[in-house]
This record gives sequence, C-alpha cells and structure tokens, in this order.
Amino acid sequence: MEKANLDWSNIGFGYIKTDKRYVSNFKDGKWDEGALVDDDKITISECAGVLQYAQTCFEGLKAYTTEDGHIVCFRPDLNAQRMVDSAKRLEMPVFPEERFIEAVVETVKANEAFVPPYGSGATLYIRPYMFGSSPVIGVKPADEYQFRVFATPVGPYFKGGAKPIVIKVSDFDRAAPHGTGNIKAGLNYAMSLHAIVTAHDEGFSENMYLDPGTRTKVEETGGANFLFVTKDNKVVTPKSDSILPSITRRSLVYVAKEYLGLEVEEREVYFDEVKDFVECGLCGTAAVISPVGKIVDHGKEIAFASGMEEMGPVTKKLYETLTGIQMGRIEAPEGWIKVIK
Ligand SMILES: Cc1ncc(COP(=O)(O)O)c(C=O)c1O
Repeated sequence: MEKANLDWSNIGFGYIKTDKRYVSNFKDGKWDEGALVDDDKITISECAGVLQYAQTCFEGLKAYTTEDGHIVCFRPDLNAQRMVDSAKRLEMPVFPEERFIEAVVETVKANEAFVPPYGSGATLYIRPYMFGSSPVIGVKPADEYQFRVFATPVGPYFKGGAKPIVIKVSDFDRAAPHGTGNIKAGLNYAMSLHAIVTAHDEGFSENMYLDPGTRTKVEETGGANFLFVTKDNKVVTPKSDSILPSITRRSLVYVAKEYLGLEVEEREVYFDEVKDFVECGLCGTAAVISPVGKIVDHGKEIAFASGMEEMGPVTKKLYETLTGIQMGRIEAPEGWIKVIK
C-alpha cells in the first residue's frame, strides 16, 4: 500500500480529509448494516436534534504503526464502552460495542495510506461520533441518529520532546455536579471553549478545573485527567463522578502498579494538597502524558520540583512504559493492543 504524500513529521494537529468514512443510520428503532462511504459531507434537517439541543457524543483514539510494521490501535473496547455510557446518558440508542470496534477497524483499513509510518511520531486519529439527525422542536430525544467514524492523520503532539506546561486554576466550571462531566458529550466541550480561549489569552496552556460543587477538589483539564506524584513516589489521581474516565489514566494506573511496582491512590484530591506533590502530569490519548511544571491560582504559583525543563522521573517512567507497550517494544497486557493489519 502506497502511503499518502504527506510530510509526516510536520503535519500538525488539524483535520486532513482521508479517503473513506464509516456511516450507519438508526431509523425505526434499529441500526442499518452500515457502510464505508466517500462523501465527507452530511445533509440533515435544519431542525435536527444535534443542531437544536446538542444531542451528540463522540470518542477519540489513535491507530499507528508499531516497530514490527503492524497497524494497531489501543484498547478500542474501552472507547466502545464509554460511548455506550455517553449514548445512554443522552437518551441516544446504543451502538453495539462489537460493531463500534468493527467500524473503527474498517475505517482504518480503508485509510491505510494515511496511517503514519513507525518513528514519524505521527498517528491516525480516529473520531467515532453519533448525533440526533431527525427534527425535534419540543425538547426531547430525536427519533433518528447517525453513527460515523472518520480518521485524520495528526502530527506528533510534542515536537522536540515534551516540555512542561504552565496551567491556571479556572474560574469557570466544565461540568455540573450530577451533570454530564463523566461522559464524552459535545456539550461539555462547547462549555469549555470560552474557558480555554481565556486561558490561552492569558498565556496559559490549559485550565485546571475544580469540582463545581465546592471548588475545593481537583477535577481535570478540558481534555485530560491529572496524575500527581508524592515525595515518596506514590502516584495519586483524582476520583470524581464529574470527570471523564480517561482510558490513558486507567492504563497508567495499571502500568504504575503492575509494571513499575508503584503505590497508586485513586481518591479525592484537595487543591490545598497540590503544593505538596513533586510531579504533575495530564493524561489523555493525544499526548499520553503532558508534564505540568507550574499551576497558577489567581497569581499564586505552585511550582513542581520536577521543574520547567523536563518530565519528572516518575512521570517519565510511566510515559516510557506506556508508550513502549503501545508501540510494541514492551509486552502489553492481554487485550490492550488491537491488531488491525
Ligand atoms: C475531558 C477529558 N478528560 C480526559 C480525557 C482523556 O481521556 P482518554 O485517555 O480516554 O483519551 C479526554 C480525552 O478524551 C477528555 O476530553
């Protein structure tokens, strides 16, 4: 298979149209058999549920080439499961988990020319999503839905190594108590846009959101969960009903315990104790772990001992072990790597 003519190391993190996408429609109470199509455009009613009441959810995962030349993706079963949870919470029909995985596999195979080569640092980002397509004017769930998967090649998240970032404690919330923070609903991301534009305008890379109920506990950023490291090398990660259960975070917790023999605490983390940690990182599919060097809370700075030059030692070990597993350099736990080709 001839690869697309792209400068793989310099493609950035934006949308590039690929050859095929997967589409399945839900009508009269059932999903059709689904197919790969060429057309990247969608025609729906001006009154579609997604356009009027934001009835949409999505997932994000990556396919990439391993050292031995296979095309694989990482734990797509967990994305399938999370999309079931998202759909249920938004009163959308569930797209069956095994069909989700099949749709991802078919989309990647059909766009093999766009799967970046091993060593380029680039990956094929896969975006499964679902939306209410039929008209609704009273506030209620749509009757018809579309499930789609497209793929787009994205460049390495960090060019020239992962430098620690500076983030701020946000004055905005990304989720409500008992709201939709724990699912991947489009509406959560619409809510976060003003907050992230504000943070960027002020010179920060990301927002740290606190719990919306009491504003005393650490939640997550707009696109990643937190990991902290204590002075005695314990890994601590916030537990909350209003954060997205990150697949990367769940994998890193396993790696910390089972591969590195570290103690891990998944618990409520009060903002007041953040100053006592020595390392901090953000974990998500895009970057695996982004090190945080500093957190600014209304002018007060918390600077981590790991500094502004490189990842802290524990964060680095976690990062190297998980990326080693993903790339096939380290043996993966059963079922983590889905071989596509
Ligand atoms: C709000 C939020 N938290 C955390 C994550 C990280 O999740 P994952 O590791 O599954 O990519 C994401 C990205 O998907 C996200 O959007």
